Amino acid sequence: MVAFTIASQKGGVGKTTVALNLAHALARRGWRTLVVDTDPQGAIGLSLSKKLSSSPGLLEYASQASALSKLIVKTKLKELMLLPVGRVPPDDAMGFQSSLADGDVFQALHADLDDQVDIVMYDTPSGFGGATLGALRVSAFAVCPVQAEPIAARSVLTIFDVLGSLRDRGAVVQLAGVLLTMLQTKDRSSLAVAEDLWKRLPGNLIFETTVPRDAAFLEASAAGVPVGLLRRRPPPVAMIFDQLAAEVEARTHLEVTDSNEAPIALVD
Ligand SMILES: Nc1ncnc2c1ncn2[C@@H]1O[C@H](COP(=O)(O)OP(=O)(O)OP(=O)(O)O)[C@@H](O)[C@H]1O
Ligand SMILES: [Mg+2]
Repeated sequence: MVAFTIASQKGGVGKTTVALNLAHALARRGWRTLVVDTDPQGAIGLSLSKKLSSSPGLLEYASQASALSKLIVKTKLKELMLLPVGRVPPDDAMGFQSSLADGDVFQALHADLDDQVDIVMYDTPSGFGGATLGALRVSAFAVCPVQAEPIAARSVLTIFDVLGSLRDRGAVVQLAGVLLTMLQTKDRSSLAVAEDLWKRLPGNLIFETTVPRDAAFLEASAAGVPVGLLRRRPPPVAMIFDQLAAEVEARTHLEVTDSNEAPIALVD
């Protein structure tokens, strides 16, 4: 099992969108993927269904109020599963986050999941508070969305500092890559930010795939679905996440254990 944490210093850069759509794309490629919502505001639940935003989840798992098997929400795609954040009291979001900071809850989660999933994808609240640090401590990889706008780009260095200091304290987390989001190639300042990051960061630290700004994401979040399920023939931007999933596999050497990797004959 491999754990990924989607993390960024700045809010609203597309973390939840990336977590959900990347998980959906990986699941469609056959990886049994569990999205874990660690945001006390219940970002994944809010993006998918009202029911999920009031469902028990990570909080109830952490407080041992419920067995994990009862908390995991199955989806119509059998490889994609969700663990909502749970019923975090609005006035105790900080307490909830602090309780996750040492990573022990996530470590226990990994042990309980055993070999039921191939990938755990943590969606985190913005900033490097307790939930994010805890998830990073137990993850093999971090994916760091950065919005292609001048202020967001400045936050990139913080990510390197945080990951470095976690590794100094025994974590193994590596940066899978910085992911440019909401890129507008026709907008000079957005493109300039992208070009600057491509110049400053070595290729192994920044994904080739970029996520464009596209109204389909707003439409998908209003409809409560990954963009690939927006309609039977999804909009072009849905393909971006298939491309990103393939890039994630290659960069992180996700191990294919089940199948023959030979070309699939179209006719016998
Ligand atoms: N590529 C995109 N193009 C257009 N809109 C987008 C894109 N990505 C995300 N959005 C929209 O921007 C808003 C913020 O996105 P999202 O919730 O994924 O960010 P976040 O980083 O998870 O935010 P937070 O820090 O609050 O958790 C949402 O309304 C989402 O639908
Ligand atoms: Mg979010």
